[in-house]
Amino acid sequence: MGGTDRRDFLIKLGTGAGACALGAQGVASLRSLAPNVSYDAPTTVKLGPPAEFSDGLKFLADERLFIFRNGNTFHAVSAVCTHLGCTVRAEALPKPETVDVGGSPLQLTHQFSCPCHGSHYTGDGVNTSGPAPKPLSWYRLSVAADDGQLVVDLAEEVGRDFRLTV
Ligand code: FES
Repeated sequence: MGGTDRRDFLIKLGTGAGACALGAQGVASLRSLAPNVSYDAPTTVKLGPPAEFSDGLKFLADERLFIFRNGNTFHAVSAVCTHLGCTVRAEALPKPETVDVGGSPLQLTHQFSCPCHGSHYTGDGVNTSGPAPKPLSWYRLSVAADDGQLVVDLAEEVGRDFRLTV
């Protein structure tokens, strides 16, 4: 390669590298325009047909969730303590009591306590003593359109007045 050829070659090489860098930058900025898609596990879990839940409370260990049924209404309360995440225990009340929660009557049959550091919660999940800083979460329940199973969305917290009527 002569001197001129070599210089031409180096100029072309430099231009090519610059084009590559610009291309990469272009791809990066185009990607930043695309929605941020999450490929994590889905947060909705099918729990079985509503008829499989009897009146009262059912604890689902895999989901760390309490499902309550009262006639044809359902609600779901997290069993994850809001202090450091231990699983709380449900204790049956001596007798059920009906309280007003956000304008909707709710029959409380249990209260919750945490075995780790002694936090206590009322039956609708409100923290009453111990280090727990906030109430237990409530999650949205729905009925699957395809097979009628009860579905919980563990990414969607709802207010304590939430009820699913089936
Ligand atoms: S983890 Fe429940 S009180 Fe500490």
